[in-house]
Amino acid sequence: MSNTKILVTGANGQIGRVLTTALREKYGKETVLATDITKIEGDIEPFEFLDILNTQRLKEIVQDYDITQVYHLAAILSASGEWNPVKTWNINLNGLLSILELAREKQMDRVFFPSTIAVFGNTTPRINTHQDVPLLPTTVYGMSKTSGELWCNYYHLKYGVDARSVRYPGIIGWQSLPAGGTTDYAVEIYHEALKSGKYECFLAENTRLPMMYMNDAIKATIDLMEAPKESLSLHYGYNLAAMSFTPAEIAAEIQKHIPDFKISYKPDFRQEIAASWSETIDDSQARKDWNWKPDFDLASMTVDMLKHLREIL
Ligand code: SER
Repeated sequence: MSNTKILVTGANGQIGRVLTTALREKYGKETVLATDITKIEGDIEPFEFLDILNTQRLKEIVQDYDITQVYHLAAILSASGEWNPVKTWNINLNGLLSILELAREKQMDRVFFPSTIAVFGNTTPRINTHQDVPLLPTTVYGMSKTSGELWCNYYHLKYGVDARSVRYPGIIGWQSLPAGGTTDYAVEIYHEALKSGKYECFLAENTRLPMMYMNDAIKATIDLMEAPKESLSLHYGYNLAAMSFTPAEIAAEIQKHIPDFKISYKPDFRQEIAASWSETIDDSQARKDWNWKPDFDLASMTVDMLKHLREIL
């Protein structure tokens, strides 16, 4: 790792904040440059402002810091993306293309691109969804991530760029809040359970979606990036699973700890997005290629979430 210099884009986002800290703990603070369009709170140096569409600035940063690896997290999520489709496409796809081009030119070691269960669509089998299934996403976010996976695969095939990717399920953590996603309810519900004892859910009670605790998401990301190149059979998004639950099931789990907690339901436009995604995921390729295995299920995640949130709220 001696010459390794890591760039994190979107370091102020839900995953970015936690991943940046984890990477710094592992590889040293100065090894990991955090960038974002907004400034992160707290002690976050080294940090640079970066609008991912500012290709010139991105080039300068890669040059000045001798970047050898990128975790490219900057993106707009599924629900927000629907308000501004063209901007979402630009940020999510053109941002990635700039990173892949730089990775090729500078012969970087590797690039991480987060994909998502939003690549699935109404033509995808929803139960135990396999790795290679029909992808016909109905959100611009899903379209951009599907295309992003294809570009990662293309850069690997044509130019030998070592791009690596996972299809994250909904990610739940106490350290940061998501913004603009369809799975955000599963984070908000814990906050509201502790703050007000009730939560109005924007998805219907029996909407089952794949989810994952933040600790597992970070472990998966770093494990994939550290896996020996020879062991990887895919250079597009690996399916990744940990748990699947419905709003009613997560509410029942919270009620084991907060018996008076009440949930109500008022589905909005996000219901249709959720209904187009898978319920459960087959992640056997990730388990086979790089020994992926989650540590948290709904019960253990709930214990850990409530413990940490009680401390900070
Ligand atoms: N959590 C994301 C979203 O809901 C899915 O990748 O948009």
